[in-house]
Amino acid sequence: MALKDSSPEKWVYKEHTRIKHNILMNYLSPWMVKLGKYYRHIIFVDGFAGRGEYFDENGKLLAVGSPIKALQVANSLLEKAKEKNRPPYFDNFTCICLEKDTDNYKNLKEVLSREYEKLKFKNSLDYILKNDEFALAAEDIIRKIKYELAPSFFFIDPFGFSGVPFKLIKEILSLPRTEVFFNLMTRDINRFLNLESNRENLRSLYSNMKWKDICSALYGQERDVALKNLFIENLYSEGKSKYVSSFRMCMNERYQTLYYLIHATNHFDGFKIMKDIMFKQSSFGNYEYSGPYDAKRKGQISLFDLSGADYVDTNRLEKILIDRYKNKYVKWEQILKDIYKDTEYIETHIRKAVNNLIKKGLAFVEKNTENKKVGKIGPGDMVKFL
Ligand SMILES: C[S@@+](CC[C@H](N)C(=O)[O-])C[C@H]1O[C@@H](n2cnc3c(N)ncnc32)[C@H](O)[C@@H]1O
Repeated sequence: MALKDSSPEKWVYKEHTRIKHNILMNYLSPWMVKLGKYYRHIIFVDGFAGRGEYFDENGKLLAVGSPIKALQVANSLLEKAKEKNRPPYFDNFTCICLEKDTDNYKNLKEVLSREYEKLKFKNSLDYILKNDEFALAAEDIIRKIKYELAPSFFFIDPFGFSGVPFKLIKEILSLPRTEVFFNLMTRDINRFLNLESNRENLRSLYSNMKWKDICSALYGQERDVALKNLFIENLYSEGKSKYVSSFRMCMNERYQTLYYLIHATNHFDGFKIMKDIMFKQSSFGNYEYSGPYDAKRKGQISLFDLSGADYVDTNRLEKILIDRYKNKYVKWEQILKDIYKDTEYIETHIRKAVNNLIKKGLAFVEKNTENKKVGKIGPGDMVKFL
């Protein structure tokens, strides 16, 4: 029998949850700084807000849930600005939390009010908590955000895959300066595929029936990847999202996909920051947490320094650059945009590959006179590929 959403087993703090929180928090911090500069009120919507606390198997408190973590990130940014004697990064941060399960809601309410009291900058931080379903409450929230013209970040983190109609995601993405961070639970899609009652949930999640063909033609990891790709394809085609990145999360016990974290944005800066974070969160730069394989492989190669670009094959990237840009002058920013969108490489690799090409006499740089960082390729610099 399926566990209730409030069952203690569901609130044990697993490594994949810790990594999910790391990715989210590492992103929210620069997002708040960037958006807060132009729009003084910013909104974080936690559509599946959770219980508020996580424990270990023995009941020892290990971590707080995502809404509290988001408030803590905002608080520490305000603290940092104060320490540096600079204006605050934003005037107001609101965290809107929706939680359907009454038991989880009660716990979240308690933990939120306890943890909120500990925050130093309460005047600039607030939260709204609703015991409601995401799909029912979202319309009002969308209206509020539209009215306030506030940039917003929607975290959509269900346990399964029901209660998230794609038409709602589409509506959210149509708001200006709004991003979505979505947890696509492919393990559960696979597990409950044949249940008649889930057909409607899947139709609503994908807004078409292509998932059916995938499920009848493919198995195992191929099916997971295809289900994820179909969702991403929808974000591009129907959601009109310009940039999408994803991170594969395996089970703690097995090298098997549990879910994909998927980020959709219309801004390259946000996409780049998220992709950098996802790269760094994966032990091997493969945009995934591989469960037990991570620890095993880490142990095997712990003698080497695997940080940064060292273990990524930049020879292939050099070839991509030459194939794409041979005999062309290309702006540095354009190279970043193209390579980030079409490949798995990040800035460190692109720099390394371009520098290698320069050493080999296959490229040179024309510096933008306003780019003060002498020696380092930067904004406005042009790269000529020979
Ligand atoms: C994965 S947990 C959320 C964890 C939380 N985001 C975190 O990172 O700490 C999913 C939560 O969504 C709640 N939930 C389930 N269906 C829901 C719905 N339709 N609308 C809102 N919340 C829902 C569950 O009770 C559960 O607490």
